[in-house]
Amino acid sequence: MQIIIYDNAQQVAHNAALWVKELINKKPDPVLGLATGSTPISLYKQLVEQHKTNQISFKNVTTFNLDEYHHIAPENPQSYRSFMAENLFNHVDIDLKNTYLPTCATGQNPREQGLAYEDKIKKQGGVDLQILGIGANGHIGFNEPTSSLSSRTRIKTLTQQTITDNSRLFRPDEEQPTMAMTMGIATIMDARYVLLMATGANKANAVKDMITGGVSVMCPASALQMHENAIVLLDKAAASELSDHSYYQWANNENSKLIEDYGYFHNY
Ligand code: GLP
Repeated sequence: MQIIIYDNAQQVAHNAALWVKELINKKPDPVLGLATGSTPISLYKQLVEQHKTNQISFKNVTTFNLDEYHHIAPENPQSYRSFMAENLFNHVDIDLKNTYLPTCATGQNPREQGLAYEDKIKKQGGVDLQILGIGANGHIGFNEPTSSLSSRTRIKTLTQQTITDNSRLFRPDEEQPTMAMTMGIATIMDARYVLLMATGANKANAVKDMITGGVSVMCPASALQMHENAIVLLDKAAASELSDHSYYQWANNENSKLIEDYGYFHNY
């Protein structure tokens, strides 16, 4: 794992955007894995800005989102399809035909939908760079604690903590879903690179468990310890429970020197 600690959330977003920009400008047919939640919103703002200033084009980009609520209509303002439209898709030149979410509409079989999503990702050549946030309980996507580390796209029942954490995003008159389709942990692990963003003190314990705890289903994000190319971008608050700040800082300075000498080497 490469752990990079920044002073604030804005710097986390700025640097995450540089990763995305590098992929999009380097690969002719990039496949980007996307996340929802409040953390990546500032990343999407940066990407929209890069697009407006002609630094990147999404014309040839294909996207796969991590998750989507079960039985939610795409036009429902609470759907992750609406979230992506509002925060990214409506503001860039992406072809909506190339944007996928693991949907399961009323009457559709979640098992079949999950398998079909896995198939689509494979046919597209796999995800090059998967953006991730982290839940306060260590979930990634909607892989809640006890999710199998070998799981694939499927339906999950949300924990009470996640329902409570996300309730801030729903008005009292809106029905909050309790189930969701999500890429599995094995699906996420298949991505060539994963870029996890965590900001704010409420993520500090989950971040500590992910980085320094044992690999455990009780902290699904800890599976990333086994990923060949996992990059974790933190602000100071999210990193506040980690004890090795100075080592991470030093390692990143050393890495920056290597990058100056040899350039980036991302094997997309
Ligand atoms: C949500 C999403 C996750 C996200 C997490 C944290 O429920 N399914 O993909 O990373 O919770 O969200 P936030 O960034 O709002 O804290």
